[in-house]
Amino acid sequence: MTVNPVVENFASTGKRGRMPGMQPVVVVQHPLAQCHLAAIRAVGTPSHEFRRHLNHLARLLFLEATRELPVQEISVQTPLKQTVGAQLARPLVCVPILRAGLGLLDGILPLVPDAVVAHVGIRRNEETALPHAYYANLPASLSTADVFLLDPMLATGGSACEAARQLKEAGAMRITMICVVTCPEGLAAMQLSHPDVAIVTAAIDAGLNDKCYIVPGLGDAGDRYFGT
Ligand code: PRP
Ligand code: URA
Repeated sequence: MTVNPVVENFASTGKRGRMPGMQPVVVVQHPLAQCHLAAIRAVGTPSHEFRRHLNHLARLLFLEATRELPVQEISVQTPLKQTVGAQLARPLVCVPILRAGLGLLDGILPLVPDAVVAHVGIRRNEETALPHAYYANLPASLSTADVFLLDPMLATGGSACEAARQLKEAGAMRITMICVVTCPEGLAAMQLSHPDVAIVTAAIDAGLNDKCYIVPGLGDAGDRYFGT
């Protein structure tokens, strides 16, 4: 499969960049993010440690994903003086893809306790790897919000493409996907169907195996997070 040269560039430099009309793919190279990623990749990491590391990593990815959110100036009275502060200019909606996306939500919500949480339930068919959508609960406020689509794994891209389609159908205009690990196949699928969705990730792995799992990846994210 042809790898988008811009994505290759991100993978090696960790910098932002974009083709005309295409939102960026950002690989977060921060050393702490890469240490948490190594811990959740390790096969011997038990569920309680997997959860802890994923929470920390989600927070670091979210910081990068929200770096360019617009803010409004507000007036703040300190104990000493009136000064200028900031508040987010637009509402924020987090959308975990059930199940595994819930594992990113836990790390993110403490930073934005006012965020609305919407849900999309999508499960890959184990034989075909095609996405099966089984649940959605999306608020009317999507059209005015900055929307963060959460899923640790962007593999074939089928689940994320379907989720982004549902979000846009419900009115979402500004979508950023946060994932932990992706691969060229998943990025290509997203960039083909949803070039307007920015992607923030900790790693672009080599590719998919014959069962459509990311290699080296981290295995089944949902099973490892929930201990199933
Ligand atoms: C996993 C993962 C993504 C999807 C990625 O979920 O959390 O949602 O697979 O694969 P794709 O890019 O090829 O669509 P899964 O279907 O295993 O469901 P789960 O979260 O309930 O375990
Ligand atoms: N879903 C996962 O949980 N892991 C993969 O590598 C691919 C899909």
